[in-house]
Amino acid sequence: MILISQEAGVTALEVRGLTVRLHGRTVVDGVDFEAGPGERLCLLGESGSGKSVTARAIVGQQLPGMELSGSVLVNGRDVLGVPPARRAGPDRVAMVFQDSASALHPLVRVGTQVAGALRRQGVAADEATDRAVELLASVGLDAPGMARRVPCQLSGGQRQRACIALSLATGAPVMIADEPTTALDVVAQARVLDVLRTKVDAGTALVFITHDLAVATSLCDRAVVLAGGRVVESGPLPQLLWEGTHPYTRELSAAAYEQVLPHEVTA
Ligand SMILES: Nc1ncnc2c1ncn2[C@@H]1O[C@H](COP(=O)(O)OP(=O)(O)OP(=O)(O)O)[C@@H](O)[C@H]1O
Ligand SMILES: [Mg+2]
Repeated sequence: MILISQEAGVTALEVRGLTVRLHGRTVVDGVDFEAGPGERLCLLGESGSGKSVTARAIVGQQLPGMELSGSVLVNGRDVLGVPPARRAGPDRVAMVFQDSASALHPLVRVGTQVAGALRRQGVAADEATDRAVELLASVGLDAPGMARRVPCQLSGGQRQRACIALSLATGAPVMIADEPTTALDVVAQARVLDVLRTKVDAGTALVFITHDLAVATSLCDRAVVLAGGRVVESGPLPQLLWEGTHPYTRELSAAAYEQVLPHEVTA
């Protein structure tokens, strides 16, 4: 079991007036949202609407030519502009990327990578090795020798679940998953969603980024819709699917409706 450093009565993630300029161009413009412990929040928006840049600003990854303003509170502390390496454990935000290969060291065994994240939290070496195997098993990577494989010896879906295990091992109170299932087939996609649904601790806030409202509805409690770097709509799911008024939400809703309708009619 990973200990989540959650402070009572404090919102896990609070983004207030977040503005990001890249090389002088405003790409995220006064974004506000929050996610409580155990909440699964979806960030929706068309391509280029600012979802990934928002995620990077929250995590503390600096992009070339980046200027930030506003605030990002993790467990009540403002961490805007603080890079991941300079954040204390309770202020960290774990990130799962669409491209799982880039998130893992290509030459280091996945078990060693997960154990390393545990050791950085002060877990003793022997215990970290055992707990890394347990964590990998908890995301379905339980075949013998799985922990000893390097990332290229895993399938795309297995690699993505290894990334989730790595994020869980950091004990961060907030996890952001940026389109983690886009590159996967439907079976691998369903497994990754199931791991996010069942293994992300009740104390962790999950921010899930996607274009797919059907996937968002199956996983998340609430959604925030971005367009042109601004929040244009937000609300609980699935109500937003039927009651959203912004044209982009309507478009997503129509696409999701087309996907579910054949099943509903034949059910
Ligand atoms: N490194 C960068 N340098 C300059 N501009 C960038 C950079 N990364 C993103 N942008 C610009 O910032 C804006 C927001 O990009 P972002 O990657 O956040 O979009 P997104 O909503 O994640 O889109 P997608 O759904 O396609 O992933 C876009 O106009 C994009 O061109
Ligand atoms: Mg993106």
